[in-house]
Amino acid sequence: MSAEDSPRHSIEHAAPWPLAPPRLRLAHLPTPIEPLPPLSGWPAGPRVDLKRDDLTGVALSGNKIRKLEFVLADAREQGADCLVTCGGAQSNHARATSVSAARLGLGCQLLLAGTPETPPRGNLLLDRLLGAEVRWLTPAQYEQRDLELQRAAERLEAAGQRPYVIPEGASNEVGAWGYIAMLAELVAQHPSRPWTHIVCATGSGGTHAGLLIGSRLLQWDVRVRSYLVQRTRDYFVDQVLRITEAFAARYEVPLEFAREEIDIVAGFEGPAYAEPYDEEIALIRAAAREGGLLFDPVYTGKALTGLRAEIAARRFAPDDRILFVHTGGIFGLLAQGERFLTRA
Ligand SMILES: Cc1ncc(COP(=O)(O)O)c(C=O)c1O
Repeated sequence: MSAEDSPRHSIEHAAPWPLAPPRLRLAHLPTPIEPLPPLSGWPAGPRVDLKRDDLTGVALSGNKIRKLEFVLADAREQGADCLVTCGGAQSNHARATSVSAARLGLGCQLLLAGTPETPPRGNLLLDRLLGAEVRWLTPAQYEQRDLELQRAAERLEAAGQRPYVIPEGASNEVGAWGYIAMLAELVAQHPSRPWTHIVCATGSGGTHAGLLIGSRLLQWDVRVRSYLVQRTRDYFVDQVLRITEAFAARYEVPLEFAREEIDIVAGFEGPAYAEPYDEEIALIRAAAREGGLLFDPVYTGKALTGLRAEIAARRFAPDDRILFVHTGGIFGLLAQGERFLTRA
């Protein structure tokens, strides 16, 4: 039986809302919810639970596959035979796209920022193993990533293929459905909706946008807050607003958000994208040793450091209840092994 015929890969139209687009079932859902275990140095304050989206699948681990379930159903409906996307050299999104392409029998071309790593490690090792074609972009080319994606698609078309372009992080109005559906999953798991805040890392804005749109569609008065890991707060506020506007237009829903409603926190991103800092490394080590939990240095480690600092600064009330979405990133951790060993 090919992946095409497998019931796991059949397009599902019975989504929770009449306006929801088709979805491919690729992730292992629902993911569990667990309390954050006691960690040394963690301040007293509100209860924190973890939504274990690091468990969406072994090779698929993380948040991207939730978005790809919808984006790839769209690609399938459009008759695509290959996927084109972009990201950093250690992009979790690129890796989840490589895995999905292999499972669906599609080609995969990745435009990655940086220079070839030898030997490839972490996500890049998996991209190679999974047979994705990698093209490297200079930092200047990566700034123009949408144009580069378009050019790559044109080259593939000229060669007789039917490419489907997925933007950075699958962060667009289709991918947003992944986190709208995640909110519906939460409500099914806990109908009493006990959380006052849902927090996560932001790297391209799609997870935050999906959660925000989902809270409105579900009429759930929960605060969505994210911790950025690169670029600027203004960039991500614009990005989230762009996704929500595109969503309202495409699915014809009257949704509007004010800039002030986009709660994105800067200050915990460290010296540069993917560069961890001492406080973060110490927290990642504590979570590993005291809780058996693996956070990554690029996204979740920074967001968790931000959350801890904000709890310590009493930016949450004691009776708040926070859900931290653990968005994965394990292979990014493996790509930076030495850093964690040399600071033992
Ligand atoms: C592990 C991990 N966590 C969080 C994020 C951030 O999610 P988003 O791109 O939807 O902002 C990403 C990707 O950017 C990621 O790979």
